[in-house]
Amino acid sequence: MYKCALILAAGQGKRIKSDLPKVLHKVCGKEMVKHVIDSIRKSGIDDINVIIGKGAELVKERTADKNVSYSLQAEQLGTGHAVKCAEEFLRGKKGVVAVFTGDTPLIKQSTIERLFNDHIESKNSATILTAIVDDPTGYGRIVRENNEVSKIVEHKDCSEEELKISEMNSGIYCFDIELLLDALSKLTNNNEQGEYYLTDVIEILKAQNKKIGAVITDFEETIGVNSRVQLAQAEEILKDRINIMHMENGVTLIDPKTTYIGIDVEIGKDTIIYPNNILEGNTKIGSNCLLYQNSRISDSIIGDEVDIQSSVILNSNIGDNTTVGPFAYIRPETTIGKHARIGDFVEIKKSNIGDGTKVSHLTYIGDAEVGSECNFGCGTVIVNYDGKNKYKTIIGDHSFIGCNTNLVS
Ligand code: UD1
Ligand code: CA
Repeated sequence: MYKCALILAAGQGKRIKSDLPKVLHKVCGKEMVKHVIDSIRKSGIDDINVIIGKGAELVKERTADKNVSYSLQAEQLGTGHAVKCAEEFLRGKKGVVAVFTGDTPLIKQSTIERLFNDHIESKNSATILTAIVDDPTGYGRIVRENNEVSKIVEHKDCSEEELKISEMNSGIYCFDIELLLDALSKLTNNNEQGEYYLTDVIEILKAQNKKIGAVITDFEETIGVNSRVQLAQAEEILKDRINIMHMENGVTLIDPKTTYIGIDVEIGKDTIIYPNNILEGNTKIGSNCLLYQNSRISDSIIGDEVDIQSSVILNSNIGDNTTVGPFAYIRPETTIGKHARIGDFVEIKKSNIGDGTKVSHLTYIGDAEVGSECNFGCGTVIVNYDGKNKYKTIIGDHSFIGCNTNLVS
């Protein structure tokens, strides 16, 4: 059966109080809407349409990928109206469309698969992903009659009785494409917020005697991030998930609470990570490394058996058995060889440092090619800038540089 997905991402997100569109706020280093896209992808669906509106160009730029197309919702008149804006994408297609909101970054691949399978096997017209929660404040409630889902009521439109319902709408659904398109044309905005609600499609289908199903999952996975407080909650949940995954893969985290690992970071076995480390972007850490306290490593590749302490490493490569820090600053486009030593108060920028070279203290190296087995004395400065232009420096193998040396490029 043909499957595709829509992601609603046109709102500004008033409640997050930001100039940035809400779905571009990051959780564990990645935009919320990208988390959603990646989970959909992993579940085997690659025809994805994102509905954009507020900050459309920026959302498009940050989510651009093959098989991702866009529909524009110029005015945000509600989630139902948003789906309607994807009519052109859906028209003529037969099969199942899953609808996601761009603000549910914790949704798992396995749950998306379960939702699709249940929808198809039960021959439903619509299947809602729901969760049971003690405090469903702000979420739509799932109203059931004789245990069958009959409608979804938004928090603001709930009666006293409906407010007590603990089953919430995750905002994620599967629909039969043709039935959805037909129901969308029947939506009205006769509600507390004056919006066209996607959730009303359920009641419309029910009135046509169509089969509605629900798949219940953990509330944690369905958290919709509307505010900065919820953003922090999502961060904490995903951070725990990532940390547990690495520990299960054989990485020691001395204090998982203070270890911040981005979702795409890879770490080899038997590496030990001390508190207050931040690993970001497409970073790869080898095996048997020791990451002592307080480093930030971003978009970098670290070999095996590397020791790093209290340092910042950005977009660089560090070879096997090298030590870095404490207090080193490795700036972008730097490559450091194997068995090298980069010590305290050393800054290296856009340079290659050969195997076995020692830069032990108080040194600046910028725009340089440095050979192997060199030794830099304390207080060496490569003078790469004359106030107008930057110049390159080349230092051969086995060079010995005495302390307090300025090497004018
Ligand atoms: C929605 C659901 C609610 C559910 C909750 C789950 C409706 C009416 N309500 O409420 O039942 O419990 O999600 O998180 O659907 N968006 C657009 N265009 C619009 C309006 C919204 O693209 O005109 C996008 C937003 O960018 C956002 C998503 O849709 O990514 C959800 O919108 P939001 O306003 O956060 O809906 P909720 O009030 O949370
Ligand atoms: Ca929301």
